Amino acid sequence: MGKAQHEDNKVKQKTSEFSLVRVKSTWKRRLGKKLNKDTAGCVSAAKIYESVTEKGTTWTVVSPITFTYKVTETQGLLDPSNDTLLLGHITDLQQLEDIKKSNKPIKRFVVTDQEVYKIYGPKITKYFEANNVLYKILALPTTEENKSMEMALKILDEVNNFSLDRRTEPIIAIGGGVCLDIVGLAASLYRRRTPYIRVPTTLLSYIDASVGAKTGVNFANCKNKLGAYIPPAAAFLDLSFVQTVPRRHISNGLAEMLKMALMKHRGLFELLENHGCMLLDTKFQADNCAYGCKAASQATRIAITTMLEELAPNLWEDDLNRLVDFGHLISPALEMEVLPSLLHGEAVNIDMSYMVYVSQESGLLTEEEKQRIISCMVGLELPVWHEACTMELIQKSLQDRLKHSGGLVRMPLPVGLGQAEIFNNTSYEILHRAYKKWCDELSVSSDGSSDH
Ligand SMILES: NC(=O)c1ccc[n+]([C@@H]2O[C@H](COP(=O)([O-])OP(=O)(O)OC[C@H]3O[C@@H](n4cnc5c(N)ncnc54)[C@H](O)[C@@H]3O)[C@@H](O)[C@H]2O)c1
Ligand SMILES: [Zn+2]
Repeated sequence: MGKAQHEDNKVKQKTSEFSLVRVKSTWKRRLGKKLNKDTAGCVSAAKIYESVTEKGTTWTVVSPITFTYKVTETQGLLDPSNDTLLLGHITDLQQLEDIKKSNKPIKRFVVTDQEVYKIYGPKITKYFEANNVLYKILALPTTEENKSMEMALKILDEVNNFSLDRRTEPIIAIGGGVCLDIVGLAASLYRRRTPYIRVPTTLLSYIDASVGAKTGVNFANCKNKLGAYIPPAAAFLDLSFVQTVPRRHISNGLAEMLKMALMKHRGLFELLENHGCMLLDTKFQADNCAYGCKAASQATRIAITTMLEELAPNLWEDDLNRLVDFGHLISPALEMEVLPSLLHGEAVNIDMSYMVYVSQESGLLTEEEKQRIISCMVGLELPVWHEACTMELIQKSLQDRLKHSGGLVRMPLPVGLGQAEIFNNTSYEILHRAYKKWCDELSVSSDGSSDH
């Protein structure tokens, strides 16, 4: 092996860089970086590198791909006079004009959560009828247990029967994170990539699943093990869907919001600290009434923009140092361990609560700041401790993390309110001391049972 490598180093190699220039209706390789003026505007951002050795020739292709997608917060998305759902994803103004002028009816395939359909089905149907759309609505039991490849294939079967135009007729998903994730994956597979639109109907999917590029289904007993990083053409967000979401699921979404607050935004933390209870009581619907003070729209806007700041430069998660992983180091194992008793955001909150103790024990948070964060969590009706979150589970999760994170634990920890850093060398003593204190202080107030 050593010898072969040594010989390899001596192998002569000649590498050439080619640009790609459009000539009439074809592309041609052009050697070197300098190109004639007359080729300006016809040069692709892609490159081909050709390297020739005694062993053979290798062409290395560098082909930058740009993803462009819109996240739009709007009101009255299902109001028949609002054309956002049908046309809001279109960026080309000429195309938009042409569609508006044309007499051809618009065609759309819609997948929705069965429970959402029970509540919003008549409104959705009325919307498409009023806009003269040729449509099919597929209402499915998109639960976490059904988040599987079988469900994705079922959707694909129906999409295929409906015969969509893959370029101009995006698939629309209306539901919580489970529905959006399955439909996103199905769309990414159909004809290699069919555009899709996300309409989140839970708070969690509103501020989290619909903002990014990830799609997926569960596989081999692991969450989201099959999936793709293909963003939607657009996500259309209408907070009014959240008014029918059960209270526990609002708290669930608030956990991911609190994550962004603790990592990046003190103002959002203070908003949740002061108005969290009102947001829960009013299900984010109080902005227009006297005591609402716009807290709901402020909170969702900050949560979305802070999330986009972290996602846009790292859409494929190549950079492993991610603040958005806060609350997601121990929670996956905890969530699986006690399934189905904890919702995702609840497990995330228990993880965050322990990490806040680690921060305080490491001297990164004061005792007062720690108390404020835990009180805020309690105010949002989120569990802050769980008996299944043992020191063994914590250690095992952090070891697994080392394996999958390039040999470093990359632990995001709050350093003050609304700021965070990534740490790699937190000692076992600190983790243990934090754990003991966490149990001493919080196991009393939580009953640790699974019926939150
Ligand atoms: N792709 C991503 O980046 C991303 C990010 C976060 C979470 N997720 C995924 O999202 C899923 C969790 O999402 P979720 O919390 O929205 O769960 P969910 O889709 O299971 O919805 C929660 C519950 O609310 C019901 N529901 C949905 N909308 C409703 C409405 N408007 N009124 C009444 N009931 C309604 C659903 O039927 C369900 O029972 C997980 O599978 C997780 O992996 C994905
Ligand atoms: Zn999460």
